[in-house]
Amino acid sequence: MRTVTNIQDLRAIAQRKVPRAIFHYADRGSYDEATLKANKAELAAIPLRQRVMIDVSNRSLATTMVGEPVSMPLAIAPTGLTGLFHGDGEIHGCRAAHAAGIPFTLSTMSICSIEDVAGAVSKPFWFQLYVMRDRGFSASLVERAKAAKCSALVLTLDLQIQGQRHMDIKNGLSVPPKLTLANAIDIATKPVWAAKVLMGKRHSFGNLAERVPGGDSLTTLSQWIAGQFDPSLSWKDVEWIRSIWPGKLILKGILDVEDARIAAATGCDAVVVSNHGGRQLDGARASISALPKVVEAIGDRTEILFDGGVTSGQDIMKALAFGAKGCLMGKAFLWSLAAGGQAGVAKAIDIMRKELDVSMALTGTRDVKDIDRSVLG
Ligand SMILES: Cc1cc2nc3c(=O)[nH]c(=O)nc-3n(C[C@H](O)[C@H](O)[C@H](O)COP(=O)(O)O)c2cc1C
Repeated sequence: MRTVTNIQDLRAIAQRKVPRAIFHYADRGSYDEATLKANKAELAAIPLRQRVMIDVSNRSLATTMVGEPVSMPLAIAPTGLTGLFHGDGEIHGCRAAHAAGIPFTLSTMSICSIEDVAGAVSKPFWFQLYVMRDRGFSASLVERAKAAKCSALVLTLDLQIQGQRHMDIKNGLSVPPKLTLANAIDIATKPVWAAKVLMGKRHSFGNLAERVPGGDSLTTLSQWIAGQFDPSLSWKDVEWIRSIWPGKLILKGILDVEDARIAAATGCDAVVVSNHGGRQLDGARASISALPKVVEAIGDRTEILFDGGVTSGQDIMKALAFGAKGCLMGKAFLWSLAAGGQAGVAKAIDIMRKELDVSMALTGTRDVKDIDRSVLG
């Protein structure tokens, strides 16, 4: 295996290891992918300010996210189908995050269920909720998250209708993976992946399967899910979730200042400035360009987290410079998981930690909590 020195190396390994349809599911964005590209390009274009001759021998990356101590300002973002990137992927990801001292978020659309993960780890994780048309089912997911002692609920606001990802359609992506001739040939060249994922306990949506009549069958489950996205969702639903979830509440998918003000008024504990990793509204602003305005509007009242294009410690530093308290990583997590399971995710976190640490030193910063606009060039 080639020497891994950055997240792009893990991406390259992931590409070799998992079937094309799964790799593209993580890697690609919606429509023309303008927002996907802007997320990265605009982060890359921000200059950092090189400083010299400042004693930086003692540095600290420790901080808090929604009041939880973290060893660095990074969390794993919720990602659907994680367990198709590596067998029991959610458990591997959660263990790696916990060992590194950062939060892990389990998606509603995970392969391992809330209970699978809770039974396999010793510390609380965050649970991400999609409010579905069947509100009774959404309420039951909240109850399950409470029973599993999840320490925060991440309510995703930017997917009441799904943006189209062309590659998923072209690849015939389905859950559980469907054997067509084209993907059978592809899967045949990925025997390690096939052994780990296809022979594993679960290959379908762990949180949903038991709920749906005949939920193990592909057609019934997909039909149920397709019918569950609810264009009628509104801020009233956020109020409702607030009323049934007494714990930490994080609202994910804020890009607009007006939405940010409404979100802050709900009494949430944090918002995530996010465009869903360029997978929803194509043409939406890059996350990093939306961040300063949201911070200006509500930063004095609400903690602000950030995601979209974060693949290095330098990216984390830039988001912190604009006022984020911490970042979430989506694609970088999935690439590293596909590349090496728990060890792969541990490697990705370690790479980003070292990059952030060195960037702090070279900008003359000793404490991650001191990062502000003064580190920008
Ligand atoms: C493959 C994939 C699946 C995702 N699934 C979910 C999900 O189930 N729930 C959710 O709130 N966000 C989901 N997201 C969005 C991420 O939580 C996050 O906002 C985004 O990936 C951040 O951008 P990045 O991938 O550039 O780090 C998903 C992202 C990816 C790449």
